[in-house]
Amino acid sequence: MDREKILATLRTAQLGRQFYLLEETTSTFDALKQHPPVHGLTVAARRQTSGVGRRGKNWESPSGGIYFSTLLLPDLSPADAPFITLLCALSVHRALDKRLPCGIKWPNDVVCGGKKVCGILTLANCADNVLKSVSVGMGINANTLSFPDELEGRATSVRLETGKTVDPNKLLCDILYELELCLQGDRAALLEEYKCHCVTLGAQVTAHFPDKEVKGTCTDITPDGCLVLQTKDGQTLTVGSGEVSVRGIYGYV
Ligand code: BTN
Repeated sequence: MDREKILATLRTAQLGRQFYLLEETTSTFDALKQHPPVHGLTVAARRQTSGVGRRGKNWESPSGGIYFSTLLLPDLSPADAPFITLLCALSVHRALDKRLPCGIKWPNDVVCGGKKVCGILTLANCADNVLKSVSVGMGINANTLSFPDELEGRATSVRLETGKTVDPNKLLCDILYELELCLQGDRAALLEEYKCHCVTLGAQVTAHFPDKEVKGTCTDITPDGCLVLQTKDGQTLTVGSGEVSVRGIYGYV
């Protein structure tokens, strides 16, 4: 990644206009907090020593990946936060799919051939029933050539899948551009586009609640970003990404 090239390539009005590139940081989420909060503030890093993943897991950040966090100050309510999560995945899908056919595993993993190519973590900051900010963190396996043993068979990269080196500056700019468009787009149309690419729809999954497991088929995604599960005994459950982890499709990718 190269800051000057990124600034010259950006096609956004706001996202990434305040841009910092670090050689190494603990997590780009930590680095984001070091700067005055403006909409679109973005911090990327070549390496993270304590990258954060969903559900408290750590995020391995081998070299060749694109790691960044962007601050959104949306004029929305807390109830909109899950939808922003879906939009993040959709923006990566739009940017990546031109280079590599991929799908979205609900809520926001981008996968290729059953392996994860991008992970996204969105952290919403709400107070007094107002969505103050959303910090979006994305880890894209762009030119990564090898992964730690525990990710063997579960992670892949654009480079490994296509045999070609991706321009990380262009890919990062494309993602920010698509995210900016998605944030301004028509919600119904965006949800339909998301559903078209969502590999979880129609799949058999197990939803893991803190106290129980429920098996079912994913039949829909609600306008607020929840997954609808139809169980064998005819029950319909609506589950939010904060409440459950969904497994069954591609295991734990
Ligand atoms: C996941 O578990 O799938 C989400 C992974 C999110 C990783 C990205 S890398 C950039 C940003 N900084 C972090 O510490 N995490 C996110």
